[in-house]
Amino acid sequence: MPRTLDPELRRALAARIRYYNEMGIYDFYRQPLSVRAGEVAAPIAVDEGEITISANAVSTNQPEPGEAVSPRKAAAVAMPVAIEENIFDAIAPKPEQSVSDPAKTLKIIREDLGDCTRCVLHKQGRKQIVFGVGNPKAELMFVGEGPGADEDVQGEPFVGRAGQLLNNMIKAMGIEREQVYIANIVKCRPPGNRTPEREECATCSPFLMRQIAAIKPKVVVALGAVAAKTLLAMNSSMMQLRGRFYDFKPAGVHSNDPNWDGCKLAVTYHPAFLLRDPRQKGEAWKDLQMVMKELGLKAPKGNS
Ligand code: URA
Repeated sequence: MPRTLDPELRRALAARIRYYNEMGIYDFYRQPLSVRAGEVAAPIAVDEGEITISANAVSTNQPEPGEAVSPRKAAAVAMPVAIEENIFDAIAPKPEQSVSDPAKTLKIIREDLGDCTRCVLHKQGRKQIVFGVGNPKAELMFVGEGPGADEDVQGEPFVGRAGQLLNNMIKAMGIEREQVYIANIVKCRPPGNRTPEREECATCSPFLMRQIAAIKPKVVVALGAVAAKTLLAMNSSMMQLRGRFYDFKPAGVHSNDPNWDGCKLAVTYHPAFLLRDPRQKGEAWKDLQMVMKELGLKAPKGNS
């Protein structure tokens, strides 16, 4: 039995483990050989350098109309995961581990991301990677779904129509876009602006988790169902997810700052959804007011 794995396989396994970690699963165990021999298909079976992923383990990430989150297939988490012990060292300490300056840390993470080809989005027409923008020491972070056409061209998140609305939302909170940090769950534009697949989110989001740990915000606002679902690893509808704070720690990352033990996370509607259904703006404003209260922000005169 080999003790080392092909680098591609390692990367795929590391991404899969992070995906399970994000869902709160940390304990993996080996199945007996008779099971691994193939009578029972587990979500991931690793043996002699081959990955088998059952169809149950891979479901789509499409939000329902009205931004509800489609139910996650329970089988994806309920079945045992058979895995070689040596893949755990695939999750190496992050290169930014000993760096405390957030701007430097973000630079290291960007370098580590490189000209990423980790998921299929790299070969589906993306022009460039859209890493994130803003204040590396921001108290407030916004996380969207993925770049659209304008973002793909400009290399910056939320610069199109949805971005204009996000800018207005930020202004209404009494702050400037430059004061916050803005990023997405996936850093490459999905073709035709389709919703990113679960696999793409699982592959890309560890970099976002590292960005969050670098910035150490007080509050993260998840914009829309894909961001909320990926960050919280929860399956509920937007209606259920909104209206409260969650205690949030970026999955799979240890902060190197003993004074930062995670932050609060709030969920609100995606600006693109608000453009389609402006009647929901009042609800989104309630979410932002909750965030403002937490951060001690006051709306500029004229907004309430
Ligand atoms: N929608 C997103 O989710 N992110 C962007 O950057 C732009 C639009």
